[in-house]
Amino acid sequence: MSLSIVILAAGKGKRMKSASAKVMHHLAGRPLLKHVIDTAKQLNPTKLVVVVGNDAGEVLSFLECNQIDTVIQNEQLGTGHALAQAKIAMTDSTRVLVLYGDVPLMKATTLQALIDCEDQNGVGILTADLADPTGYGRIVRDGSGKVICITEQKDANKATLAIKEVNSGIMLLPSKWMLSSLDKLGNDNAQCEYYLTDLIALAVADGIKVDTVCCSDEAEVAGVNTRSQLAKLERHYQGLQADRLMTAGVTLADPKRIDVRGQLDVGNDIFIDVNVIFEGKVSIASHVSIGANCIIKDSEIGEGSVIFPNSMIDSSVVGASVNIGPFARLRPGTVLGEKAKIGNFVELKNTRVGVGSKVNHLSYIGDTDMGEGVNIGAGTITCNYDGVNKHRTVIGDNAFIGSDTQLVAPVTVGEGSTIGAGTTLRKDAPAGQLTLTKGVQQTVEGWKGPDKGK
Ligand code: UD1
Ligand code: CA
Repeated sequence: MSLSIVILAAGKGKRMKSASAKVMHHLAGRPLLKHVIDTAKQLNPTKLVVVVGNDAGEVLSFLECNQIDTVIQNEQLGTGHALAQAKIAMTDSTRVLVLYGDVPLMKATTLQALIDCEDQNGVGILTADLADPTGYGRIVRDGSGKVICITEQKDANKATLAIKEVNSGIMLLPSKWMLSSLDKLGNDNAQCEYYLTDLIALAVADGIKVDTVCCSDEAEVAGVNTRSQLAKLERHYQGLQADRLMTAGVTLADPKRIDVRGQLDVGNDIFIDVNVIFEGKVSIASHVSIGANCIIKDSEIGEGSVIFPNSMIDSSVVGASVNIGPFARLRPGTVLGEKAKIGNFVELKNTRVGVGSKVNHLSYIGDTDMGEGVNIGAGTITCNYDGVNKHRTVIGDNAFIGSDTQLVAPVTVGEGSTIGAGTTLRKDAPAGQLTLTKGVQQTVEGWKGPDKGK
């Protein structure tokens, strides 16, 4: 029994009041549509196709990058019309699962339950009982409880509006029947649209069995039509992440002030202060402490390390027992050895710092290989860029770089060498010796300062 999945994502999303397509708005750092695609893939469909609008260039290029098949709906004439555009994708499968690009938190296990409970010639609707059903299509049943039709909010009378059982938008349809029925949809309704939901009344008329599966998690069926709904869903998702972290042994200063926008793997006895954001793939070993307002992206943090407030760490590997910040910035390609110390207002990029080395204050170190036990004085700068090319700086073990030094790359500081404060190092410094470029200190006789006036 083969299954095609069609994701409807061509709607304009007028209620978002945005130049961007609604399905490209982000939830937990990923476009809404990406959530739906990732879930759909877990079901291993024989075919997966997304229906997109003709003016949605960003959606198309996003789908192209992700190698997902698309069909274009030139005019947004409704969800039924949208599905009809994807007919070609459904001819070689027994059943079609319709997903909406604006329903991002639906779980694969819930969809699998819908797939499993249906006999393959029937129609399945994923429904939910909502305390506030406003905006959703209502599931209308007869006296015996059989589904008769779905009525949209805008077409519903008072009695129908009182129904709490809603259409999630997710439906399972027998391909053959559906392919012949889509053409029968009309648009004589409040929105003058071809509603996919009208297929239900057609199925009932054709004697096709209509079953429902009720999803008990409101967030799974929640559709995003407005920015307010998007924000609510984001907070719900983040609440679940916070719960998961605490269960795993993480102390959160405030579970309401953490954002996980990707995959976060954790050890135990980790402390995370308020307003910390994790992006992409991040792993944190046990006994790590992260101060307030840090942003950590695509990085690994080693056991027992302490990250002080307001630090940013991007695409870096931090060893064990390292101290970072406050106000430090680790840019891509930074690798810190065990017990390294990176202090305030220090920027590192594409740099390897050896075990126990320190860059404690106000420095820029880029494209550098730094050995162990090195001390970099305050205000040291690697001049790694000549305007065209980047060059590397090499600093040997136990070197001591005096404050306010410029290391003009490519340049090598030998093992155990000392560079005098204020040096502009243009040539390699030999191991174990003092190198400096400082002029002789002078006191100017007879110098007079500016007149401060009367
Ligand atoms: C739809 C359902 C409603 C359900 C709700 C669940 C219909 C008629 N109504 O209403 O019963 O309770 O979803 O969230 O189906 N789309 C297209 N082309 C179009 C129109 C829409 O691809 O011409 C896409 C949109 O991008 C969106 C999805 O279909 O991803 C749903 O469209 P939307 O306009 O948001 O429908 P709702 O009014 O929410
Ligand atoms: Ca919607």
